[in-house]
Amino acid sequence: MTALTISPDLATTLRNARRVAALTGAGISAESGVPTFRDAQTGLWAQYRPEELATPEAFQRHPQLVWDWYAWRRNLVAKAEPNAGHRALVELEQRVPAFTLITQNVDGLHRRAGSRRVLELHGNLFRTRCFAEGIVVDNWANTGGVPPRCPHCGAWLRPDVVWFGEMLPEAVLREAEEATVRCDVFFSIGTSTLVYPAAELPFAALRGGATVVEINPQPTPLSQQAHYSLRGAAGEVLPTLLAAVWGRGGAD
Ligand code: OAD
Repeated sequence: MTALTISPDLATTLRNARRVAALTGAGISAESGVPTFRDAQTGLWAQYRPEELATPEAFQRHPQLVWDWYAWRRNLVAKAEPNAGHRALVELEQRVPAFTLITQNVDGLHRRAGSRRVLELHGNLFRTRCFAEGIVVDNWANTGGVPPRCPHCGAWLRPDVVWFGEMLPEAVLREAEEATVRCDVFFSIGTSTLVYPAAELPFAALRGGATVVEINPQPTPLSQQAHYSLRGAAGEVLPTLLAAVWGRGGAD
């Protein structure tokens, strides 16, 4: 159990909020056993830095190696289950008149938990995209170690995730920015707030006049400026916060 106390002012602000947005990062999936980005390189893959594998150039040079790395991550995530933090965000979507969930995670755990509207800024591990033409291909045959081929043009299929040096999906980012500047309360949960442009969103929310709440066991570049910095694991802090606002029991 967490010893965290929620300020009555924050509880009132959230209870009265019409529009709420939340940005999540790898930290929200940590309690599901999915290692955070900066802890992810373990075992077999410890010798590689993510920056050496998550690039179009790396895929071009070593398609099989990069495909294998993502297959390993996909397996890890497939075995994981959403945790109390993911579930609390499902409840928040049900409680708040207009709620936008923005995630940097590619693990799909928010949707598996039951969140209905999720803006995936960095794509999704379980989809693929043609490396030549960019067409998204949802149904692809598992070919073991070798990347599958595009059914339309025969080029390699790559994971439909954003790699270093690539642009974020434009329409998704625009929707996230709009929700950010219009919201009354903005949550930044389990993200190191280091990777742009996602890291810009909490600061845009501050400029837009929102109450900004950070949930993270560690300080980040946002902590000093956030109105509330709740130090702890998302799976503990979020249920405690929701209970303080709406009482125990949840909406489900
Ligand atoms: P990081 O791995 O950079 O940061 C994870 C954050 O989660 C850290 O600040 C931890 O302190 C925090 N954390 C750990 N356990 C937590 C818990 N139980 N509850 C809450 N917070 C916890 O992950 P991201 O910020 O998501 O981009 O990284 C951003 C992007 O960098 C990723 O999406 C990825 C990477 O480059 C792409 O792949 C394009």
